[in-house]
Amino acid sequence: MTEIVLSRDPAHARHGSNAGQPLTRLDGPLKVTGRAIYAADNRPDGLLYAAMVVSTIARGRVVGFDVEAARGHAGVVEVMTSENRPPLFVNPDLHDQPFNFKFEALQNDRVRYAGQPIAVVIAETLEAASEGAALLAPRYERETPRVDIDDGESFTPPFVGPGHPTKAEKGDVDHGLAAAAKVVDATYETPYHFHNAMEPHAIVASFEGDRLVIDTPTQALAFGRLRFAQIFGMTPDKVLVRCPFLGGGFGGKGLMSGPLVLGALAAKLTGRPVKLVATRAQLYGPFGHRSPTRQRLRLGVDGEGRLTAIDHHARVATSSFEDFYEPAANVSHTLYSSPAIRTTHEAVRLDTGTPMFVRAPGEASGSIALESAIDEMAANCGVDPLQFRLTNYAETEPISGKPFSSKALRECFAEGAKAFGWAGRPLQPRQMRDRDGLLVGWGVGVATFPAVMFAGAARAVLRADGSGYVETTAHDMGQGALTAFAQIGADALALPLDKFELRSGTSDFPDGGMAGGSGHTATAGLAIHNAGGEVIARLIALATNDARSPLYGAGNAGVIAREGKLLRRDDETRSESYSAIMARAEVAEIAGEGKGAADAGLKAQYAMHAHGAVFAEVKVDPELGMVRVTRLVGAFAAGRIINPKLVRSQYFGGMIWGVGFALQEEAIYDRRTGRIVNADLGEYRIPTNADIPPMQAILVEERDPFVNALGVKGVGEIGVTGTAGAVANAVWHATGVRVRRFPIRPEALF
Ligand code: MOS
Repeated sequence: MTEIVLSRDPAHARHGSNAGQPLTRLDGPLKVTGRAIYAADNRPDGLLYAAMVVSTIARGRVVGFDVEAARGHAGVVEVMTSENRPPLFVNPDLHDQPFNFKFEALQNDRVRYAGQPIAVVIAETLEAASEGAALLAPRYERETPRVDIDDGESFTPPFVGPGHPTKAEKGDVDHGLAAAAKVVDATYETPYHFHNAMEPHAIVASFEGDRLVIDTPTQALAFGRLRFAQIFGMTPDKVLVRCPFLGGGFGGKGLMSGPLVLGALAAKLTGRPVKLVATRAQLYGPFGHRSPTRQRLRLGVDGEGRLTAIDHHARVATSSFEDFYEPAANVSHTLYSSPAIRTTHEAVRLDTGTPMFVRAPGEASGSIALESAIDEMAANCGVDPLQFRLTNYAETEPISGKPFSSKALRECFAEGAKAFGWAGRPLQPRQMRDRDGLLVGWGVGVATFPAVMFAGAARAVLRADGSGYVETTAHDMGQGALTAFAQIGADALALPLDKFELRSGTSDFPDGGMAGGSGHTATAGLAIHNAGGEVIARLIALATNDARSPLYGAGNAGVIAREGKLLRRDDETRSESYSAIMARAEVAEIAGEGKGAADAGLKAQYAMHAHGAVFAEVKVDPELGMVRVTRLVGAFAAGRIINPKLVRSQYFGGMIWGVGFALQEEAIYDRRTGRIVNADLGEYRIPTNADIPPMQAILVEERDPFVNALGVKGVGEIGVTGTAGAVANAVWHATGVRVRRFPIRPEALF
């Protein structure tokens, strides 16, 4: 049993047996039997089906539609264009708060990118809606689109990511480079990526009396409710958003997008419930993507192989009308120690949808460049790349100068290297072949991701029968949040799991914060933990103030809660069950509320990150250039592990994503039309089973006393960050070729 101590004094102790257990997902049976209800599964009475019509040009104007043909089609109820769409209560072209992005809502006849929604056809059946959409036959006035990172003048963005400075600098980088014994100066390119969640974006919306009821997959129920309320001029209590499950999110379902608003507008226009589901091809446009990057890395080292300068400059792209800038260079803030570090960004405006957060936004693109450059420098110095990283290890966060709240990267290096069998790796490339004559290479990459927390809240309730529950807007997008929160919640009330229920999936519950930034477990988990703490403190007060209780006079700090019982800390034979205490006090329920957020003081004092090291083996066909990843070992330290089975699964998912980043993923734009030529899961290549070798994810023990009372850091995104670089470095080790444009294609190896 783990002792979980509340962060405030005087504190009772709670002993839980659930957190830390490798529980199988509690919602697994629902999912594999089809009983888990996803947004598009909902069919309210009177439902209409909406089909989006999206632009086939990338820039210009819509000059006409064949509205009469669509309207005349049997089953079509309404055609919504910019001419007749109901009014909005916010300007969709206003970005007034960091997370209130602009959205597409048929505001006018302008086309700003291919795939932009330009009309919606609403019908009695999906077939009629789709046929009506085909009959609309839009006519356009075309302008020349810009979709390549070299199209257009660049400028310095006002900020990067969610409001970070565009530039950071310490020391004299130019001096550090000039004085260096060796310099690496290399440019890396990463392509457009799309989220490609299994479940497409979808909405079922109905106006019921004065209420708007919405089913949609979202990573942020409370934020979604607020945004819909703003957009439709309603108070938030009149808006209900439901989302028991998501079929993947990856950042694409964090914020409100135009098509969801269009679904609700269609319901408003017709006065009936409407379902709108994006087709697979329509996911490549209005829902965000990972910006392409071109990054120049300049590193200098002295004669001892110590870094003298890191200069990381990233060119990124945004849309023609909105501001989102991938913070690709910022990964160089945290990993390596150097007297001089500079990170800068420039941006271009392109005729694409607006880029957005995509799993490990910034870190994924940035670390593949940084880790490649570091590897190249190690090779130039004739030093083992792992040793080079240890030599240049940052003991304190390089740019901010803050100490790390904890950092177990050395342990990740040691455990990962041992499991992989790194010792004995030849320094030179092209030294290893397998029995079939394939070139074999080994590479390493460092993984890092910040320990993010949002603000969250939860409500916990204990019932007189000794059972309890917690309510919060948990978002399970496949990562296992519902299971982890049930484990934290049962421990928060010191109950066995079978006496506990986690309630979530509706915006009526307290806001558990966004499932993003790998911060959901820490944020909602802490809120749940604190809500349970309130309940137990109230229960303890009932007992310790009652002369009839064996706990009388023990005080909050003198009591332990465990398995549905309170016990005296100094004499555990004196105890009482929750139900006995509540029965005597004649209370049916005890409720408590809790909040979860980063401690601002500690955050100002410490740099908080999860760390890891990924080791990859690749085999490369020397004639065909085909690369296969044949072994993958990751070792990660991310604080306290609530559920090792789910966490391993998150690491596997991240590492698989990293393999795709290095070798497969790329959305390809046709520069003539501004359209994506592989907007489908057939030709947008992501790893499938045959691409992925058996993997190992090592959970390196780490106790972070400062990150939050639970000691939890995020695990969802970090796996991507180390793996892509490790694979690229292994490809060099196998072939002697440094490929700097990703994904690595066979033809790049000759
Ligand atoms: Mo993630 S890109 O923060 O959902």
